[in-house]
Amino acid sequence: MGLVKKDEKKDYTIEDLPGVGEATAEKLREAGYTDLLELAVASPKDLAEKAGIGAGTAQKIIAAARKYANVGDFETGDIIFERRKKIVRLSTGSKALDNLLGGGLETQAITEFFGEFGSGKTQIMHQLAVNVQLPVEKGGLEGHAVFIDTENTFRPERIKQMAEALGLDPIETLKNIHVARAFNSSHQMLLVEKAKELAEKYPIRLLIVDSLTAHFRVEYVGRGTLHERQQLLNKHMHDLLQFADVHNAVIAVTNQVAANVGIMFGDPTQPIGGHIVGHTATYRVYLRRGKGGKRIGRLIDSPCLPEGEVVFKITPEGVKDA
Ligand code: GTP
Ligand code: MG
Repeated sequence: MGLVKKDEKKDYTIEDLPGVGEATAEKLREAGYTDLLELAVASPKDLAEKAGIGAGTAQKIIAAARKYANVGDFETGDIIFERRKKIVRLSTGSKALDNLLGGGLETQAITEFFGEFGSGKTQIMHQLAVNVQLPVEKGGLEGHAVFIDTENTFRPERIKQMAEALGLDPIETLKNIHVARAFNSSHQMLLVEKAKELAEKYPIRLLIVDSLTAHFRVEYVGRGTLHERQQLLNKHMHDLLQFADVHNAVIAVTNQVAANVGIMFGDPTQPIGGHIVGHTATYRVYLRRGKGGKRIGRLIDSPCLPEGEVVFKITPEGVKDA
C-alpha cells in the first residue's frame, strides 16, 4: 500500500497498488481478480460492476496494475524457434496411444486426459511418472516427476509394480516422484509455484495434475461463480504452460466428464472446464472403457494431428498395447 518504488525482482500483489487497502483488495479478490495481471487486462466497467467500486477507482486501479503487473516480455522469433527445437516426447507405454499423440506426450505443452471414472486416467498418470525416468531411447526423459494429487489417488504400491515391470529399482523410482496433496483449488495453484522451486533442485520433466478440475468444480457451484472459476482455471493453465516452457517439461492433467458429476445440464461426454481448459490444453484425449478390460483413446480437436481412435489396455504391469 502507498507509493512503492517498483522493484523488478519483486512479485507484486494487489495490496501493493497505491490506494488499495485491505478492504478493497478483499473486494477485488472476491470478484475474481486475484492478481495484478488480471487487473491490468480488466475493463474498467466490468471491474467496477463486479467489485462494487466506483468507475473512477476502477480506472485508477487498472492503470496502477498495468505499471506493476508482470505482463511478460516480448521474445524474438528466433528464441522461440530455439526453444521449440528442444521439444521431445514422453511415451505412455502403449505405442498405439503414443502414435495417436504424434509419438508421445509433447514437452512444452499440456496434454489432458478426460473420461468417466475408471477410464484409466490415474493409471496413465502413474505410468507417466515412471516412464519419465527412463532413458530417452526407451521413451523417457531421464527426469523426475511432480505429482499434484487432488483426490488422494497416488499409490506408491502401483508405482513399484510398474517400475519392477520395466526393470527399474522401485525405491529409486519412488524417490524421483515428488507428490503433494492439494487440499483445495488455491492450494493446487500454489503447488505449481512450489514445483518451480523444486525444479531448481531436481530435473523435473513431468508435472501431473490429477485431477485438474475436481476442486474447482466443487468449490465454484452455481452460475454466479462460473466466471470466477473459469478465470482461475485460466490462470492455473497458464502457470502450467509457463512451467512447461521454462523446463521443457510435459504437463499431463486429468479431467472428468459431466456425466459422472451428476449435474443436470450439459453434455455427458463434455469435459469440465469448458472452453478455458479446451483452448489451453494442446492435446485432449477422451478415454473410455472398451470390451474385455480394453481402453479406447480418442484425440479431440488437435490443431496439427488427425483425429483418431486407438485401443490399449491397463495391465498389472501398466499401460500396454492391446
Ligand atoms: P476417476 O479418477 O475415478 O475419474 O477414474 P480414473 O479414470 O482415474 O480411473 P483409474 O485410472 O483409477 O482406473 C482404474 C482402473 O484401472 C480399474 O478399474 C481397473 O480396471 C484398471 N486396472 C487394471 N489393472 C490394474 C492394476 O493392476 N491396478 C489398478 N489399480 N488398476 C488396474
Ligand atoms: Mg483418477
